[in-house]
Amino acid sequence: MRIAMVSPECSPWAQTGGLADAVAALARSIAQQRHDVRVFLPLYDGILESASPEAHVAPLAVHLGNTTHYARLWERQEHELLRFYFIEYQHYFQARAIYADAYGDYGDNPERFVFFTRAVLDACYQLPWIPHILHAHDWTTGLLPVYLETTERERPLGRAASVFTIHNLQHHGYAPRSILDMAGIPPHVFRSDAVEAYGQVHMLKSGLYFAQKLTTVSPRYAEEIQTSAYGYGLESVLRFRAADLVGICNGIAVDSWNPQQDTFLGDSFDALHLEGKRRVKEKLRAKWGWEPAERMPCFAVVSRFCEQKGLDMLIHILPNIMQCMKLQMVILGQGDRWLESQFQELAGRFSQRCRTFIGFDTALSHQVIAASDFLIMPSRFEPCGLTQLYAMHYGSLPIVRETGGLANTVENYDEGSGSGTGFVFRDATPDALYDAIGWACSTYYDRPQHYSQMQRRAMCLNLSWDRSSRRYLEVYRWAREAKGC
Ligand code: ADP
Ligand code: GLC
Repeated sequence: MRIAMVSPECSPWAQTGGLADAVAALARSIAQQRHDVRVFLPLYDGILESASPEAHVAPLAVHLGNTTHYARLWERQEHELLRFYFIEYQHYFQARAIYADAYGDYGDNPERFVFFTRAVLDACYQLPWIPHILHAHDWTTGLLPVYLETTERERPLGRAASVFTIHNLQHHGYAPRSILDMAGIPPHVFRSDAVEAYGQVHMLKSGLYFAQKLTTVSPRYAEEIQTSAYGYGLESVLRFRAADLVGICNGIAVDSWNPQQDTFLGDSFDALHLEGKRRVKEKLRAKWGWEPAERMPCFAVVSRFCEQKGLDMLIHILPNIMQCMKLQMVILGQGDRWLESQFQELAGRFSQRCRTFIGFDTALSHQVIAASDFLIMPSRFEPCGLTQLYAMHYGSLPIVRETGGLANTVENYDEGSGSGTGFVFRDATPDALYDAIGWACSTYYDRPQHYSQMQRRAMCLNLSWDRSSRRYLEVYRWAREAKGC
């Protein structure tokens, strides 16, 4: 099969969160199964240097409405079956990050990503390379399935089937009605049972209505988003499309997340040889100026700081935790200014046992996860979550709220038998989180055999992408059947 993967993010060149990792790893895994996969993304600032692609000689003609824009296409071929394409267009992408700068989201994000979407289709014609499947990810690419069913219907790409994956339902992408003129999409789709919502174009909903098949990144989240508690107003659309919606859990890209050969650690370990993990922990403790403490557990957070992740609950209980529990805490993240300053303030207050790092730092994220004994993820909702998977793979037991992919991937500790791979709590309240952290901490001190047993079990789980990518291939076949091709 020929599969075009269309996404605003892809690791390691453009990343704000797990979407980038998921897209890159899925593409690699499908290509390994001998399908022709090409990933398309915008050429943001800095990618030319980091990805070193090669330019295609002819300019890329992008047909938006009645106007033709000239852009440039860059290609990075990893091997015969895996290529990355970058769309260069100064007006929208030069000297710009993915969605936002220090002042907030770019005001022209809908236009930027509509341009990108149209450019991908025109790039396919120009290469020429006509995929069987166009796989779109999240709101930025929501108009892609609409194009296939409208402007492209009688053209070669009209035979391609579309699959739309929801990584996060919170981001909708509202745009004025005029965006359809800009996109060159016929105005008749401006209906509430198509692209319209509240008098505007709703880019996410557009994808949900028009794609042949929908997926999201865990079975539990696929159920949750059909309810008003998690549906962000789209629950009725999702219930309407329930027969075409599948939840498939993300996996780990084992080539970049592997404790046996992780260049960020300067050491290695596995489930049977944990001395390397202890050394990483000691090295970091020394670097952070902490007293070397034998058998004191290290708890970690590696996360975007936003409402979704529930870290405000941790802020409320952190002073109590630091006073009442014998543990060390390291926090790495960035996002909401309030959370950044609160975590910094608390780290200052408890500097002997607590550190905060503000920023996006891939090397440090590997080190923190490797050094920690527990990872805290109290998400209010979590479509899948990758960090808890990385943590389990690196022998750090996740403490998670029972929601979305966290509920699907972390098995709760059973105090009787010592089974489980982490600590799961139900209510999104500071008290429930406090109890779960206390439970984890007491397990570490009072039931060390159970801790070790869980650690080994977590590290031995098969979390690779193979199984999940096979399921995506089934969805692609199913989408083609639905399209009748
Ligand atoms: P989300 O996509 O909602 O942010 P995930 O758990 O799926 O959540 O993915 C988060 C990804 O981003 C993981 O790869 C995690 O290691 C990475 N990450 C998050 N915050 C940081 C940070 N501050 N520095 C480095 N990596 C980070
Ligand atoms: C989103 C979700 C996260 C998921 C990631 C990759 O950012 O918040 O739960 O793991 O996408 O699918």
